[in-house]
Amino acid sequence: MAYGWSSLAILASISDKNDAKLISIDMPYPKMNNEEFVGIVVMDFLRDNWELIREPDRNGIKKALRKFGGVIDLCHYDSDKSYYGRMYAYPILWNALKKGGVFISDDIEDNMAFKEFVEIRNLNFAVTKSENKYIGIVYKK
Ligand SMILES: C[S@@+](CC[C@H](N)C(=O)[O-])C[C@H]1O[C@@H](n2cnc3c(N)ncnc32)[C@H](O)[C@@H]1O
Repeated sequence: MAYGWSSLAILASISDKNDAKLISIDMPYPKMNNEEFVGIVVMDFLRDNWELIREPDRNGIKKALRKFGGVIDLCHYDSDKSYYGRMYAYPILWNALKKGGVFISDDIEDNMAFKEFVEIRNLNFAVTKSENKYIGIVYKK
């Protein structure tokens, strides 16, 4: 989450939908003292559709999915970029994603987790490049 640029983009896109909700999960970087900056770019008028869970993914994802009744339309993964962090979170998020939903993961070049994730499931995917970073996108059929 950090400053919340991606949350801001998603919230702007759902701002006219009363029944849409975004839950962001963020465990601030230890010893960075960045707590007060988490989500700072999200304007007040966009916060009605938003909830921020300040916990590690391992608790936060479960909590967020419970709040959505176990079903989500969109997932943007940009937190724990380690191989094991992704291998924990990707399947849980993917299983919760409804048909027609979109799975997005940032910085897939960090390790082989995204590659393995799509290969094992034989998923069609797209990759976009932003500066020197790569973003993986999977549409759930
Ligand atoms: C690259 S930043 C996300 C930037 C965000 N997408 C934005 O647009 O501002 C990664 C964030 O994930 C958080 N994070 C890292 N590991 C995490 C974990 N295991 N659980 C929850 N948050 C984590 C970091 O504290 C950091 O705030």
